[in-house]
Amino acid sequence: MCRWFDSGPGHSLKNLDYRKYIYGCMSYLKFLIHSSKITHMNHTSIENFIEGIPKAELHLHIEGTFEPELMFEIANRNNIPINYKSVDELKKAYNFNNLQEFLDIYYTGANVLLYVQDFYDLTWAYLTKVHEQNLVHTEIFFDPQTHTDRGISFDTVIQGIHSALEDGKEKLGISSQLIMCFLRHLDEVSAFKTLGLALPYKKWIAAVGLDSSENGNPPSKFERVFAKAREEGFLTVAHAGEEGPAEYIWEAINLLNVSRIDHGNRSLDDDRLMKHLAEHQLPLTLCPLSNLELKVVNSLTDHPLLEMMEAGLMVTLNSDDPAYFCGYINENYTRVAKALDLSKKQITELAKNSFKASLLSQVEKDQMIQKIENYYHNN
Ligand code: HPA
Ligand code: ZN
Repeated sequence: MCRWFDSGPGHSLKNLDYRKYIYGCMSYLKFLIHSSKITHMNHTSIENFIEGIPKAELHLHIEGTFEPELMFEIANRNNIPINYKSVDELKKAYNFNNLQEFLDIYYTGANVLLYVQDFYDLTWAYLTKVHEQNLVHTEIFFDPQTHTDRGISFDTVIQGIHSALEDGKEKLGISSQLIMCFLRHLDEVSAFKTLGLALPYKKWIAAVGLDSSENGNPPSKFERVFAKAREEGFLTVAHAGEEGPAEYIWEAINLLNVSRIDHGNRSLDDDRLMKHLAEHQLPLTLCPLSNLELKVVNSLTDHPLLEMMEAGLMVTLNSDDPAYFCGYINENYTRVAKALDLSKKQITELAKNSFKASLLSQVEKDQMIQKIENYYHNN
């Protein structure tokens, strides 16, 4: 269930901090004025500005783009029962108190994916959706163990995703990279086995990552698998500091040699870490609507994005699992812009960061940064 009003979870108005509420109303009013075409004659509203700006997405789980309508369609054609009677009933179950409650539903949803066509349809649906939002580059996580553990071959999963990505490039002009995540609640042996399965598809996979239940599953658990992955030529990224402590972020940096931290909200708990991230411009892939839906933050007005930008961190905006968290890339930009009263300049910086922090070549990055600067000057 989507919370369009950015108050804390389950808070009644009675329990709300009134100052925050008034502040929220004021910043919403300011946002409305900002976005109004009437007050800004000939200037693009913030919403339209966000819609039109070219963007990349760097933190997106393909299994998290599974919209209930498509889930029912694929379940029907594969003759797999779903525990919910209707799309609406399923959507009502999307009400999470933490990461684990979400993951339980997310893994169940993926159970209806059986064939190459299913993985193709899933990926293609995401690409067509974000094409409408001016997304021009995406770096996509997939979780092979979610599928291989129920008897679906690695080949089935990757063929479906890869061929949709090829079509995305050709027909929609969206470039992409694939990142294979290890499920951190499973053991090292399973991760090594998965890495072995990925080797024949090396040219289709740019990096390995780490996702699933964070607390109790530190990056150090996968130090040796990541070392082997790097030896095989993969780049590395890892979810860290979403629910877990800042110490997990240090481990991802020092033990897994990551090129980016996924989430990283808890960096704010550690001044030395904040300095390190700023100094090295190590990117964080933030996901505001995910944080709101999983109660990592109580309200978008509490989101650490602005504080991190002000501290000079290389931060990016992303949707994580858009089908479950009430919004794709533009909804993440728009809602956080509204909550934090972001300017066009700050949105432009975030769009530029999405390319700077990507796995694209320097030439490709420079081209996109130039395009974004031109867009800023014309809007
Ligand atoms: N965190 C960890 N694992 C995940 C997430 C997330 O936000 N989304 C899908 N797998
Ligand atoms: Zn994620």
